[in-house]
Amino acid sequence: MSQAKNEYDDIAEAYRDSKQLSFRKYLEEYSLFEMLGKVRGKSVLDLACGEGFYTRKIKRAGAAEVTGVDISAEMIRLAEEEERTHPLGCKYLNRDVTEMEIAESVDVVVAMYLLNYAKTKEELLRFCQVSYNVLRSEGRFVGVNDNVRNPPNGTVSFAKYGFEKECATPPKEGDVILYKLVNEDGKQFEFKNFYLAQETYQWAFQEAGFADFKWVDLHLAPIQQDNLFWDEFLSNPPLIGLMAFKR
Ligand SMILES: C[S@@+](CC[C@H](N)C(=O)[O-])C[C@H]1O[C@@H](n2cnc3c(N)ncnc32)[C@H](O)[C@@H]1O
Repeated sequence: MSQAKNEYDDIAEAYRDSKQLSFRKYLEEYSLFEMLGKVRGKSVLDLACGEGFYTRKIKRAGAAEVTGVDISAEMIRLAEEEERTHPLGCKYLNRDVTEMEIAESVDVVVAMYLLNYAKTKEELLRFCQVSYNVLRSEGRFVGVNDNVRNPPNGTVSFAKYGFEKECATPPKEGDVILYKLVNEDGKQFEFKNFYLAQETYQWAFQEAGFADFKWVDLHLAPIQQDNLFWDEFLSNPPLIGLMAFKR
């Protein structure tokens, strides 16, 4: 079943190209794989997979089965096109995560920037419940999100890294956090996330049944450790990791 038009349908290619920005590689990707640990032989569900950037990386890292789910038909079209051109065995579903029905349970749920699409605590709880229900016991939830522990004070520029964040000061539950990106080729585009307090996140994970929910600061890849370029990002971190376990 395909979904109604989604904001990412119009920016799918620009978003895909933004994966070439250096913070993606040295902070986002490095931290994701640090949190994931060994994925060899594991079954993984990549929620809000976009055009499959991490779905493919996780499969290449040795996961047995990886399925990406995204609400944007255009994102899924790009993911499937890439799968046809360079087959890896990734599967994709064009679904709203909240309406997903997946019978088989998985070892790992990955959610790179899904949770910050919840506008209310009920929507966040639903994302967490769906993730919990699809996990095997001892399974792990791993994600990267807008850093709701450090909301921007009005507009904050991370221009040297290729983006800017904007939101009300102080943000209230459900307020928009606007991301404006500039790709390496100069292409500009924007998308919205939504703010929910860190306590709401803790509540939603606990309510869904998860144990040991924790925030995880993004870490810089060792190869960049001495590069002062990253100081601004790391001293005012716009993004954060999160992990939780199903006991
Ligand atoms: C910032 S992009 C991240 C894409 C990918 N995870 C990555 O890191 O490259 C956010 C994605 O979330 C998807 N999304 C938002 N709400 C969703 C929902 N309820 N169900 C499935 N996908 C959703 C959007 O379509 C978009 O592709």
